[in-house]
Amino acid sequence: MDKIHIPVLLDESIEALNVKLDGFYIDCTLGDGSHSNKILSQLSSQGLLLSIDQDQNAIDFVKSYYDIPNNWIIKKGNFANLKQIVKSLEVNKEADGVLMDIGLSSRQLEESEGRGFSYQKENEPLDMRMDQELSVTALDLLKVLKEHELTKLFKVYGEERYAKPIAKAIKEDISEINTVGDLTSLIYNVVPVAKSNKNPSRRVFQALRIAVNDELNSLKEGLDNAFEILTTGGRIAVISFHSLEDRIVKEFFNEKEKSKQGKLVNQKPITAKKEEIEKNPRSSSAKLRVLEKI
Ligand SMILES: C[S@@+](CC[C@H](N)C(=O)[O-])C[C@H]1O[C@@H](n2cnc3c(N)ncnc32)[C@H](O)[C@@H]1O
Repeated sequence: MDKIHIPVLLDESIEALNVKLDGFYIDCTLGDGSHSNKILSQLSSQGLLLSIDQDQNAIDFVKSYYDIPNNWIIKKGNFANLKQIVKSLEVNKEADGVLMDIGLSSRQLEESEGRGFSYQKENEPLDMRMDQELSVTALDLLKVLKEHELTKLFKVYGEERYAKPIAKAIKEDISEINTVGDLTSLIYNVVPVAKSNKNPSRRVFQALRIAVNDELNSLKEGLDNAFEILTTGGRIAVISFHSLEDRIVKEFFNEKEKSKQGKLVNQKPITAKKEEIEKNPRSSSAKLRVLEKI
């Protein structure tokens, strides 16, 4: 199997971590393993890398693709439980750096038996669970939530202007909705033809994915956990892809600076250069923020 995911802000994020040869680093979002592999390449055999991902497919891929040396530990888990995961490994070290490259990998979007993350994959089920052990799918949410609850979900997590008519149409037609294509056709019929060339389903899919995976709460908890296990002088680097995530990171980092527990490594977020965006358009929305613990 080949690598599918093109890493975003790879050099910038690893440089920001200031990797020490014998340090302890954590990559909270293993994906296809490019960021982890780059950290590993900068460690001596005394250094240690822990990589986690909540998606078993990511773990299986990386274990089959790379030779895994003794100083690279790979664990399935949610970074919301980072402290617990590190404790269970009995590493007994504070982390020198923590990386989060949040959101979806291209593997998750492109995989053959997909989970309906992409609004372009019409025949896929409306699942959207990154962790296959979660019990509630996107379709379950559409069925279980009331119209006003769906409206709120699309508004808050999708910043969707047409949240109310979309929620109404979904509840009216719920018995007809099973696949990605069923939902995208319904949205096409409800949302006026977009002036922008963005797909009108984009925001609803973002909202459902955030809700199914409890992404914003995981991020808040992950940041808290990461900061707690970080050593003084250690750094947290976070790459986010939309404004809801970036706001959480920005507020967390600002609050740490204000309370003199941390300092911002860059005043403004680092974004992808023109050449990277040309090669990988997905990088155009990426923002990298870095905090150092003091
Ligand atoms: C953008 S990809 C990471 C790509 C990776 N940096 C690389 O170089 O290939 C995000 C990955 O993070 C995982 N992920 C997202 N939220 C997570 C969470 N709360 N806990 C653990 N893994 C998470 C996803 O399953 C996905 O594999």
